[in-house]
Amino acid sequence: MDKSLLFFVGFSCFLLIHGVKAEDCNHLTETDNTRFQSFKALVPEEQPYRTAYHFQSLKNWLNGPMYYNGVYHLFYQYNPHSALFGEGMVWAHSASYDFINWISLDHALVPSEPFDAISCWSGSTTILPGNKPVILYTGIDANYNQVQNLATPKNRSDPLLVEWVKYSGNPLMTPPNGVNGDNFRDPTTAWQGPDGTWKVVIGSYSNKQGVAILYQSKDFVNWTMHPEPLYSASKTTMWECPDFFPVSITSTNGVDASVANPSVRHVMKASFNSHDYYIVGTYDNEQEKFLPDADFTGTSSDLRIDYGKFYASKTFFDSKTNRRILWAWVNESDSSEDDKQKGWSGLQAIPRKVWLDRAGKQLVQWPVEELNNLRDNQVDIYGKHLARGSIFEVSGITASQVDTEIMFELPELEETGFMDTSLVDPHLICDRQDSSVTGKYGPFGLFALATKDLKERTAIFFRIFRSDNRYVVLMCSEQKRLVTGSFHNYPQLCYESSTLI
Ligand SMILES: *[C@@H]1O[C@H](CO)[C@@H](O)[C@H](O)[C@H]1NC(C)=O
Ligand SMILES: *[C@@H]1O[C@H](CO)[C@@H](O)[C@H](O)[C@H]1NC(C)=O
Ligand SMILES: *[C@@H]1O[C@H](CO)[C@@H](O)[C@H](O)[C@H]1NC(C)=O
Repeated sequence: MDKSLLFFVGFSCFLLIHGVKAEDCNHLTETDNTRFQSFKALVPEEQPYRTAYHFQSLKNWLNGPMYYNGVYHLFYQYNPHSALFGEGMVWAHSASYDFINWISLDHALVPSEPFDAISCWSGSTTILPGNKPVILYTGIDANYNQVQNLATPKNRSDPLLVEWVKYSGNPLMTPPNGVNGDNFRDPTTAWQGPDGTWKVVIGSYSNKQGVAILYQSKDFVNWTMHPEPLYSASKTTMWECPDFFPVSITSTNGVDASVANPSVRHVMKASFNSHDYYIVGTYDNEQEKFLPDADFTGTSSDLRIDYGKFYASKTFFDSKTNRRILWAWVNESDSSEDDKQKGWSGLQAIPRKVWLDRAGKQLVQWPVEELNNLRDNQVDIYGKHLARGSIFEVSGITASQVDTEIMFELPELEETGFMDTSLVDPHLICDRQDSSVTGKYGPFGLFALATKDLKERTAIFFRIFRSDNRYVVLMCSEQKRLVTGSFHNYPQLCYESSTLI
């Protein structure tokens, strides 16, 4: 790739870069998959847009990650027939001992029975007592209704859990009264109440509200719908891939899904309108009440897991390292025609550890530390002084695949412009003041994937404002690219929460 990585600034600063050349770092991809060997996606010169750090297949969509007996598993939605979404979706399966190198395995679930005749759609894994992993997934049945099914490993002693057996009593849950057969999907990881009752929520849309329908079971097989949903929100549409999990209020460690006591708060995440939104609140495990600090408002002030292309995220508790890890699917911006030509579409985002911020109001996330093992070909630049309006190119790296750490040192902050953050929507600022609009403190940051003339580039940039008695850092990202000769601007809004400096 002849794309560059450049720094651009409006004032002097210091910076530090750890770059890696990631041409050798394709471990997260599935290069050892013999089923894909003949596919042109594996020829890098012909497929410059394949990633090196990200888990990627021909086509993927997230189901659920899992840790079991020393092995990490990723189950993902995969269309064996096409680079586009379609009928016949399966649960593809990969496993890893180190979260970096992945082994592609046979599909865990493929359509075969009346209860999943058309497709095996998303769901989750749960580890039952006695260290017994199970899958709950949505089947598209022969009548195109969405139903929930159970599957268990054929042999729990198989370290990679390759073969899965569908329960003969499927389906376990069918669309209840008032719920359309195409609005009932994506069971969460189940959790257990103090009396041993299992609970799970199913994403839905009913009475013009996005809903997390709650089911309970004593034995994981016979499920009864709770009269009240665990949560519903009028300002939301159909909930896909809901996720409900506890986060510690005192530690960055994760906790198991069944923990519900004063040491934790609970996060309810739902995917709708192409984004992953969440609310934080208190969960009463006995009364089955989830009381969030605030409801979804249907505005851009609702908390999102990520502000880029990012959907259908799922978390799991990694009992090996006591982390809660979040993994999401990245839908690209390519057209269906482009996807068909490439022969693939979609990839997994970088997996992140998630925890609760000190104020207990929102999630904090950081790439899993295993990712550092992919670092190679380090490029360090220290104490670089960047004058206003300057652009500085980092040499010695492949800009399309680089892991960067930067530290900016900013002088004379007191002259920063004022912004009343309670009145101003940060998304609008990113949108209206793109990387070409100069301000008092910013923009400064990175141009990634930049052509020499800078007409095609992805800017990741910052602006600093004063707001009452603190400074606020605004982070935006924006893509500008050339499409078949004509110039297109794809602004992509990105906001990192206000940070005290
Ligand atoms: C289950 O897997 C273990 C470990 O691979 C193997 O030794 C055993 O023979 C398998 N059992 C059956 C019934 O296939
Ligand atoms: C299923 O569970 C419900 C609620 O606990 C119970 O009333 C019903 O008898 C159970 N059905 C079976 C077949 O066990
Ligand atoms: C994925 O991206 C395509 C192209 O940008 C868009 O048309 C589609 O709605 C997206 N799908 C989801 C589920 O976000």
